[in-house]
Amino acid sequence: MRRACVIGWPVEHSRSPLIHRYWLKQYGIDGAYEKEAVRPEELAAFLGSLGAKGYVGANVTLPHKEAALRAARSADQAAMAIGAANTLWLDPDCALHAMNTDAYGFMTNLNAEAPGWNERRRRVMVLGAGGAARAILHGLLTEGATRILLANRTHDRAEALARAFGPAVEAVGWENRDAALSGCGLLVNATSLGMTGKEPLDIDLAALPEDAVVADIVYSPLETRLLAAARARGNRTVDGLGMLLHQAAPGFERWFGVRPEVTPALKAHVAASLGAS
Ligand code: ATR
Repeated sequence: MRRACVIGWPVEHSRSPLIHRYWLKQYGIDGAYEKEAVRPEELAAFLGSLGAKGYVGANVTLPHKEAALRAARSADQAAMAIGAANTLWLDPDCALHAMNTDAYGFMTNLNAEAPGWNERRRRVMVLGAGGAARAILHGLLTEGATRILLANRTHDRAEALARAFGPAVEAVGWENRDAALSGCGLLVNATSLGMTGKEPLDIDLAALPEDAVVADIVYSPLETRLLAAARARGNRTVDGLGMLLHQAAPGFERWFGVRPEVTPALKAHVAASLGAS
């Protein structure tokens, strides 16, 4: 039996087991997917004995994504560009390899849910400057966005990220976020604002073109206030759950040998658990 896990601290909230166990059952695979709560100071030792614990690989969530990349023997291009890994696998010699599938997950979902989002090559506005924003910038630039405005409460973080990604990304003041929406074809919330238990995202969409796409990485609730406001004024919307489902697929394929499909039934299965949390 092949076994994988998600490693986090805390890890209880992770939806990854729900996704991977659904696929294991759907494809009739003799496998298992566990949750592993690992303290930051214990991560290196845990990863060093991943194979001995019977695992073929793992997902990595907060706060371990950067350390997981450092622990790996090799990493794919996305993980190196983003500076963090969310998916690990062991080769037959038990060497650890890292991937980052967050950008893939976001872009695959965006392309599926809002095809043609970049047809008019308009500028893109991204809110946030944490790990999620970093992955999304990488994905957007890789897939043809040519001008991205980045706004973050802590402006220094937005500037640092803009510098890291080069001239296509420009930091704009958090206080200017409403006005900066003018002429944008896509708005992405990559902050944690709007998540159940957090403050709502305070933004006025009036300047955003009505044919722009609005995407949120927050998936609990599935329809955030941002997405509801966007939908009410006619914008196409993309929720955060699709990104979560798509980012899981490459790891599952690597560990269990089947490329799994992201279906409406899977989405409904995971969405049902969100209400219960
Ligand atoms: P992740 O790696 O998941 O992106 P993170 O690094 O903690 O997590 O980033 C969270 C993002 O949400 C950041 O952009 C953060 O802004 P700061 O860089 O100023 O901290 C943003 N965020 C969180 N709470 C916020 C709030 N109350 N107002 C504005 N932005 C907030």
